[in-house]
Amino acid sequence: MLSNMRTIGGLALLAGLAAAQTFTDCNPMERDDCPPCEALNMDYNFDWTHASNSTTWDRTNGNILYEDTGAKFTVAKQKDGPTLTSQWHIMFGHVEVHLKAAPGQGIVSSIVIQSDNLDEIDWELIGGNTTHVQSNYFGKGNQTTYDRAEWHPVDNPMGRFVNYTVDWTKERMEFWIDAQLVRTLPYEAANGGKNFPQTPSFVRVGVWAGGDPDNQPGVIEWAGGLTDYSKGPYTMEVKDVVIRDYGARDFPDSKEYIFGDRTASWQSIEATP
Ligand SMILES: *[C@@H]1O[C@H](CO)[C@@H](O)[C@H](O)[C@H]1NC(C)=O
Ligand SMILES: *[C@@H]1O[C@H](CO)[C@@H](O)[C@H](O)[C@H]1NC(C)=O
Ligand SMILES: *[C@@H]1O[C@H](CO)[C@@H](O)[C@H](O)[C@H]1NC(C)=O
Ligand SMILES: *[C@@H]1O[C@H](CO)[C@@H](O)[C@H](O)[C@H]1NC(C)=O
Repeated sequence: MLSNMRTIGGLALLAGLAAAQTFTDCNPMERDDCPPCEALNMDYNFDWTHASNSTTWDRTNGNILYEDTGAKFTVAKQKDGPTLTSQWHIMFGHVEVHLKAAPGQGIVSSIVIQSDNLDEIDWELIGGNTTHVQSNYFGKGNQTTYDRAEWHPVDNPMGRFVNYTVDWTKERMEFWIDAQLVRTLPYEAANGGKNFPQTPSFVRVGVWAGGDPDNQPGVIEWAGGLTDYSKGPYTMEVKDVVIRDYGARDFPDSKEYIFGDRTASWQSIEATP
């Protein structure tokens, strides 16, 4: 992967940042020796009609086909769940994904922004639901369910590329569907800020079978029911991914974000050149 990236002029800057960081389950709220988080520290438009634009993303659980219309992520059989996870992190930012969701009961197309201490912001498109998309967030892995998940109407999400944008600052996060602001979550509204996502995060885009018969009943139910693989394959398409790392404003030219202590508050995050 790395040698591959060195040959790509357009991504030279990115390649410089992308060492061999692996996403261990090292939780910086529990340990002081977790690896630092590589910083994107810039704005970048990833054009996923070309495989070369995904070299700073790790692929798991299946193949991805790059075509002129976009990258195709397909679930054809049990255990398929093609996913791209960024090697770099953003420390607040703009994440814009132009995505045509996969159809099919129990099939889930996901856009996830997540940190090593389990702050998370996500969009979930349930294949059996052609009218609504879910937005959700978690702070410090707190899974207590009250009002975090919300459903938003969306026009024809499986038939066209929809622009799903999260704009995330230390004051609030905004969820946009195309040109429409559908949700604003102020910092204070997330358990007084304590559960507001605020740590260096990677971005993950993928499709998976939430309705796989081996999954927990609650997951299958949330995913809209059992997946019938005989009715597949089920394909999600992604055209562009536009990322702005707002951390570049506070920490210009930084290569890594570091948890300064175990609080996982944004104030504790440091950066190294
Ligand atoms: C990636 O996509 C961007 C935006 O379309 C383009 O400017 C850049 O040249 C591409 N880089 C590579 C390595 O293909
Ligand atoms: C899609 O989700 C919305 C919001 O939860 C719900 O009202 C609607 O019934 C769902 N549609 C289907 C087909 O499940
Ligand atoms: C996608 O939506 C966001 C939020 O409305 C907007 O800022 C951005 O310009 C849109 N992107 C394109 C390519 O239209
Ligand atoms: C988890 O979230 C719930 C709901 O916001 C909150 O009442 C609880 O205090 C949170 N727990 C922790 C450990 O932050």
